[in-house]
Amino acid sequence: MTEACPEIMTRQDGHVLEIRIERPERKNALRQAMYSALTEALNAGEADPNVRVMLITGTEDCFTAGNDMEDFLNNPATDEDTPVMRFLNLLPVLTKPLMAAVNGPAVGVGTTLLLHCDLVYLGADARLQLPFVNLGLCPEAGSSLLLPQIVGYQRAAELLLLGEAFGADKARELGLANDVFASADYQHRAREKAHQLAKQPAAAVRLTKHLLKQHQREQLQQQMAEEGKAFGERLTSPEAREAIQAFMEKRQPDFTQFS
Ligand code: COA
Repeated sequence: MTEACPEIMTRQDGHVLEIRIERPERKNALRQAMYSALTEALNAGEADPNVRVMLITGTEDCFTAGNDMEDFLNNPATDEDTPVMRFLNLLPVLTKPLMAAVNGPAVGVGTTLLLHCDLVYLGADARLQLPFVNLGLCPEAGSSLLLPQIVGYQRAAELLLLGEAFGADKARELGLANDVFASADYQHRAREKAHQLAKQPAAAVRLTKHLLKQHQREQLQQQMAEEGKAFGERLTSPEAREAIQAFMEKRQPDFTQFS
């Protein structure tokens, strides 16, 4: 676990740093301290010459239910200098490969984070979802740029506007994941891939990642800043307050009162 947050565990195995999200009673929903611990873990991996690959995962049957809804309501991140924004802003500037092993719910940032990963492996029971519009919010983490690039405009629009959950096979077909493994051993299979990648010549790996991403880093950062500003404003909008309140009260939201 990291110093300040027992819900983010790190473990180094050879040249692979594994970062695990573990808050099962809340489906691994991410609170501010957890974002800070994730940032701390990724920065530590970047700085440690013994780390060649970072692998982010959740518990066996759940990646993450995304941002903690209570935090959305009581602690809305409305500016750039917040744990969530510091975490998101780190993703495009990582120089070492970031991999993900994902099963069960991967909601909101649980899916948008994957768009920044270099390799993504899913368990067969993975359920991805981008319910930002459903919550009266808007895309974040550069997903309004990265998602249409990866899956095409219409499919991105469908995933974002209707916000429906979709399974592992569809995610692979859309190009959001490299492979799907049985739920019982997806973490093991992803770790094997991480060790395979760690055996590749590290400087060539870093250079290739840089070349794959550098042509649009600036555009991505601009888009993320714009999204972040809009997202912060949306968080306190009446639509979002209704949606988040409805989730907490375990009822359907009623948007008919808003034009
Ligand atoms: N924030 C805070 N608590 C959350 C949460 C979140 N994002 N997601 C789930 N939880 C809590 C639930 O309220 C529930 O708490 P309870 O036991 O006190 O009732 C507990 O975690 C288990 O969740 P539950 O909904 O019963 O599990 P499920 O397996 O039926 O569904 C999800 C799992 C992830 C599909 C569903 O919980 C969900 O849709 N969560 C919200 C995801 C979301 O919209 N995130 C924000 C994205 S921007």
